Amino acid sequence: MISNIAVLVSGRGSNLQSIIDNVESGYIQNAKIKIVISDVADAYALERSKKHGINTAFIDPSRFASKREYEQEIISILQVHDINLVLLAGYMRIVGSDLIETYKNKILNIHPALLPSFRGLHAQKQALNYGVKVAGCTVHFVDEDVDTGPIILQKCVPVLEEDTEDTLSDRILDQEHKIFPEAVKMFVEGKLKLEGRIVRRLK
Ligand code: GRF
Repeated sequence: MISNIAVLVSGRGSNLQSIIDNVESGYIQNAKIKIVISDVADAYALERSKKHGINTAFIDPSRFASKREYEQEIISILQVHDINLVLLAGYMRIVGSDLIETYKNKILNIHPALLPSFRGLHAQKQALNYGVKVAGCTVHFVDEDVDTGPIILQKCVPVLEEDTEDTLSDRILDQEHKIFPEAVKMFVEGKLKLEGRIVRRLK
C-alpha cells in the first residue's frame, strides 16, 4: 500500500527537503508526498515543493473566524488527498483537537530538543541557557499537548563551550535531517506499535 503523506510547514523547510530527498532516493519506499500546506504565504518550503512538482496550499489562518474552522479547511484538504500520514516540519502552530482526532496517531513532529526537556519555542536556546552538556532532537507522535506525544526516535549531540544558538541549532538540525526520514520510513513500513505512550519498533 502507498502511504499518502501531507507535510505542514511554516518556514524554510529543510526538514521537508530531507523527506523529499529520502522519498526520491528510495530510502522511504511506497510513499508519496501528496501535498505541502503552509500557514505562511512566502514560506520557502513552498518553493522547495514546487521544484519537486509537489502540490502546495497556502491556508491563511486570518481568513477564518476560529482555529477550529481553519483546521477544518486543513482536514478537508487532507481528505481530498486521501492522506494517511501528516508530518509537522517546522509548522509553528499548536495542532487542535479536531485535527489530532481525525488523524489519531498519524501525525509526526520533529522537535529540536531531547524531550521531555525544552518543549515549545526556542528549544535550542532553552538548552543553552540551562547549561546542558548534551542536546539533540526528537521525533514524536503528536497528542493534545505541546511536544508531549509518544517518542519515536531521538538523537543527541554535544553542547560545546563556544556554542551559540546558531551553531548548536545547526548541529541539531543535521541530526533532525536523519531521524525524521528514519521515523517516516518506520511508520510507512508499519514498524511502529504504540503501547500506551511507549513506541515499540517491530522487526
Ligand atoms: C526545526 O528545527 C524543527 O525541529 C523545528 O522547527 C525547525 C524547522 O526548520 N520544529 P525547517 O523549516 O525544517 O528548516
